[in-house]
Amino acid sequence: MSSTLQADPANPPCEPLSGVNPGTFAYTTIKDRLPVIVTKIVDDLYRTYNALPDESKEKKTEAKGIISEIGELRYELQRDRELRDIVDDGDADFSVWNDCLHTYFDGKTWFSATWLFAECYLYRRIREIFNLSKLWKNYDPFTRQKESTFMASRTAVIELTKRAESLFQVSENLLEGTFHELVLISLWGNQTDLSLFVNLQAEDIEKLQKANEDAEKYVLANALEPLWNKVKTLKDARIDFVLDNAGFELFGDLILADWLIHKKYASKIHFHCKADPWFVSDTTEMDFMWTIQTCINGFAESQDERLKTLAQRWADYIQSGIWELNSHKFWTSPYAFYHIETQAPDLYDTLSKSSLVIFKGDLNYRKLVYDCAWPSVTPFKTAIGPLATSTGFPALCALRTNKSDVIVGLKEGQAEELDGVASDWMVSGQYAVIQFSEGNQ
Ligand code: F6P
Ligand code: MG
Repeated sequence: MSSTLQADPANPPCEPLSGVNPGTFAYTTIKDRLPVIVTKIVDDLYRTYNALPDESKEKKTEAKGIISEIGELRYELQRDRELRDIVDDGDADFSVWNDCLHTYFDGKTWFSATWLFAECYLYRRIREIFNLSKLWKNYDPFTRQKESTFMASRTAVIELTKRAESLFQVSENLLEGTFHELVLISLWGNQTDLSLFVNLQAEDIEKLQKANEDAEKYVLANALEPLWNKVKTLKDARIDFVLDNAGFELFGDLILADWLIHKKYASKIHFHCKADPWFVSDTTEMDFMWTIQTCINGFAESQDERLKTLAQRWADYIQSGIWELNSHKFWTSPYAFYHIETQAPDLYDTLSKSSLVIFKGDLNYRKLVYDCAWPSVTPFKTAIGPLATSTGFPALCALRTNKSDVIVGLKEGQAEELDGVASDWMVSGQYAVIQFSEGNQ
């Protein structure tokens, strides 16, 4: 194990996860899951194309070009071609990508680069195709999937809204239990991400969202207590959410954020969204605002007043600056979070003003612990390297359902025991972790 501080994208602290080994989750993702994601973009474009009026000739012609470029990208991926430079497509981060590519992955392919780099690079390549167009620059090929998944979650959304109402009225002695419940809701919302469950149907979504009666039983490392011990000391503080997926996950995150404001632990919440379409279901600022507006408008067949009131309050928070949205390009860069301070000093500075940063989801977890083969008993604070020790960095917690074969912070023998219970416990989304570092402020 090399020193964590010397880690670089090609040499994380332990052996990097990558597609070189058949049978690993990384390999299967690159071989099977990513091509499906790319194909679905083509399907989405056809649907948008077919809905265009005849007079949109130029837009239609461009769409055909984009469809064929997406097809070429899939071909490169499936033939495991060498990763090429990102073209100067007018997006300032193209040179960040190329620097990283040349410095660490020169001559590497989709399967031989690290999984983290290759998977992030795919989404940057997709963006490049749209950026180079004239009339499709801001098109998000995942919007349709994100929106329809949220609409399919309506039962769970309405249920949660009802539950939230009572959780906002609890007495002093129930605050800790309520906090635990809300964190667990936010955590399990992370199960329904569209890059893992590429063929998710409405019934599956509902099943996943109901499966949490045993919410804590499947949390393999559970830092709810230290997390609460931190939160209960806060008064009118700033708390940050590094968001993951739009849809039901975001809805649960917003309820937790609202409660933190309502109980005055925080007077300001910063939400970190993605600047570009990312890992299919990740939240962009557009998705964030759409979700709130959709709740204000009410779902088609159920005009739930409670939901409207809740969402209107969220809109007011945004209007008054109590909630603030950001989408720094670092979150869609190829870099693991060890490098926030060097790659994005402005982001590091602003995070340092927070009292607690909540990282949602699997990809954020992979980036926190550098997506490598840590022994599962490695302490979380060791695995997050500089984020646990750097001067000024605040307390942080990871709320993540396990969807990739990296995990830290387990007890001796725990991983072996789980192997005997469910061979896919690391990747199925059925297990989770809540992990915490008090930071160094
Ligand atoms: O394709 C599967 C996958 O890419 C995971 O490996 C990845 O970490 C996950 O999807 C995204 O999950 P999340 O939305 O929780 O970050
Ligand atoms: Mg995601």
